[in-house]
Amino acid sequence: EKGGYDYFMLKEIAEQPKAVADTLLGRIGTDGRLTLDELRISDADLRTVDKVVIVACGTAFHAGMIAKYAIEHWTRVPCEVEVASEFRYRDPILDDRTLVIAISQSGETMDTLMALRHAREQGAKVLAICNTNGSTIPRESDAVLYTHAGPEVAVASTKAFLTQLVACYLVALYLGQVRGTKWGDEISAVIRELGDAPKQVEQVLETMEPVRELARSLADAKSVLFLGRHVGFPVALEGALKLKELAYMHAEGFAAGELKHGPIALIEDGLPVVVVVPSPRGRSILHDKIVSNIQEIRARGARTIVIAEEGDEAVVPYADHLIRIPATPTLLQPLVSTVPLQVFACELATAKGHEVDQPRNLAKSVTVE
Ligand code: M6R
Repeated sequence: EKGGYDYFMLKEIAEQPKAVADTLLGRIGTDGRLTLDELRISDADLRTVDKVVIVACGTAFHAGMIAKYAIEHWTRVPCEVEVASEFRYRDPILDDRTLVIAISQSGETMDTLMALRHAREQGAKVLAICNTNGSTIPRESDAVLYTHAGPEVAVASTKAFLTQLVACYLVALYLGQVRGTKWGDEISAVIRELGDAPKQVEQVLETMEPVRELARSLADAKSVLFLGRHVGFPVALEGALKLKELAYMHAEGFAAGELKHGPIALIEDGLPVVVVVPSPRGRSILHDKIVSNIQEIRARGARTIVIAEEGDEAVVPYADHLIRIPATPTLLQPLVSTVPLQVFACELATAKGHEVDQPRNLAKSVTVE
């Protein structure tokens, strides 16, 4: 049932192009507009939404962080994202104009379920983004947008994450479409480019051998840091989470701009630091800043592992290891930049002799608070 792979995780990483394609299927019309018929919240209600609040845990929370960038940029509706376990305990401000999005692969995560129950008690509408048909979270929500990743068996979430991103982009774009905000060339272009995502993920998967080799060479590292900016920041957090749960290593993700406010003190000779570089097109100011960060940490001895778009030559002089990803619109980059980090963590954990599908102390779905 592992389809010839040693681990479910490897199989699920390899299935990502199909999972992404399946999640897009039938949702983009031939006219380039989105149809989310299954969304049982009326367009009229979506037009009255004045705030979006996303709740989720772990990897799904990282998808939510990325969604915030997309929702605010494309719709201009304020969006908050919070780990579900914190949400209801701080008496959050919610009413019938709040759209709460609960993201969960399993649909059974108790923290997320309790957060959505709290939101509905306050009159908010809840939209679930979920991978498991008929599970508790979609059943208790006002509406659901299913991800079509297929069953995810490995404890570490991979293909579910990529499809959560796709679902978040679809919701953000749909909100933009319904509300007429910023609807225009940029959004139409993004919808077209989303259609290219499966092919691009495939392209990344085909070039992963050097990443596996690098991961094996780092099996004895004490710690790995991950840096990113903009949507690359949640990707950095996700890369660190994967390494923690699979390789049982100290790993931390930072917003690269925070380096100088503390974490740069951690940099010492030989410390592996993975840097997720934003596109040099688009928000090029961010790109230039992160190139300076790579220079700074390298000057202090870090071993730099740089994930950068094809054609980005500015990073070359400062990258001890360079991992190329295809060029994408800025907001869509996580669909391709996350993949090398999944492969990296899986291979490093295997090199350490760990059981990657069943990491110690963890369960696939966490049904206690
Ligand atoms: O089923 P869910 O998406 O609600 O699960 C949320 C987290 O428990 C989950 O993403 C966890 O962080 C994964 N093990 C990460 O790989």
